[in-house]
Amino acid sequence: MEKSTVSMRGKHILGLENFSPAEIKLVLATAKEMKTIIHRDIKKVPALRGKSVVTLFYEPSTRTRTSFETAGKYLGADVVNITSGTSSIVKGESLRDTLLTVEAMGFDAIVMRHKEEGAAEFATKVVKHPVIINAGDGAHAHPSQGLLNLFTLLEHKGHLKGLKVAIIGDILHSRVARSDIWGMRKMGIEVHLAGPKTMLPRFLYQEPNIFVHDRIEDAIKDADAINVLRIQLERQKAGLFPSKREYARIFGLNDERLALAKKDVLVLHPGPMNKGLEISPYIAYGDNSAIQEQVQNGVAVRMALLTLTLTGGKESEANH
Ligand code: CP
Repeated sequence: MEKSTVSMRGKHILGLENFSPAEIKLVLATAKEMKTIIHRDIKKVPALRGKSVVTLFYEPSTRTRTSFETAGKYLGADVVNITSGTSSIVKGESLRDTLLTVEAMGFDAIVMRHKEEGAAEFATKVVKHPVIINAGDGAHAHPSQGLLNLFTLLEHKGHLKGLKVAIIGDILHSRVARSDIWGMRKMGIEVHLAGPKTMLPRFLYQEPNIFVHDRIEDAIKDADAINVLRIQLERQKAGLFPSKREYARIFGLNDERLALAKKDVLVLHPGPMNKGLEISPYIAYGDNSAIQEQVQNGVAVRMALLTLTLTGGKESEANH
């Protein structure tokens, strides 16, 4: 097997479309090492001592913002948080000026979430020194979520190539789905999508290794994992589905539907969940659920991303 040395030092993390399979493998291997730090009594290593990270969030977040902050702190970096509601953004300061302001303070990485697609890429054109890490830009991409989903799958299944993964729900508004699709296809995973036709982008019907189904049952049949998406009520236009009750009846993940998948099927959800809408509470907290593990794996993956982009980590050999 061909081997190559991969370094991600200085790489902006914008979307998994910009990752090679070798880079994805490097992140997953590094996250595995990082996860051991989370389980120590003293969760602190000096890998990023002297580095500074700012999280710049224009949209609400619990998991992503907190896990990037935690990841930086476990690695010894200084981490500062800016949220739109408590900064000069409320006085009308532009994104460009906010980025230039934090760059002037000397930050090495800017982790940003924004409602506009392409906001993270825009940031790479504004600042010169800091690495930009996209923590979600509109419906475009959420690369660290895509990577933590792959990491969780790999931990449970031992491999990625050849897995069958169903992604269910609001594909149209989901940056998680887009990052999943890019990452999973690059790692040889077969992706099966199902959701209301109004929430399935038409271009996906022509994509290789993607199978689009009208019925959730057909997507779930014999699946190794089911990734249930949150119905993004805040991004919805009216009329995409008749009612919440109808959605739960036709597309919600319930016990009957779960039984169609493989016995050891892994249930994923990026959170926050609308329990009783896209997923039954019994499944969300049940034996097949890896939803809480995803949260912990999010810290490990974000530790890996910060280390690899800010220091290069240990230059690793990853198989193509
Ligand atoms: N999965 C995810 O992005 O969750 P938060 O919105 O809480 O960060």
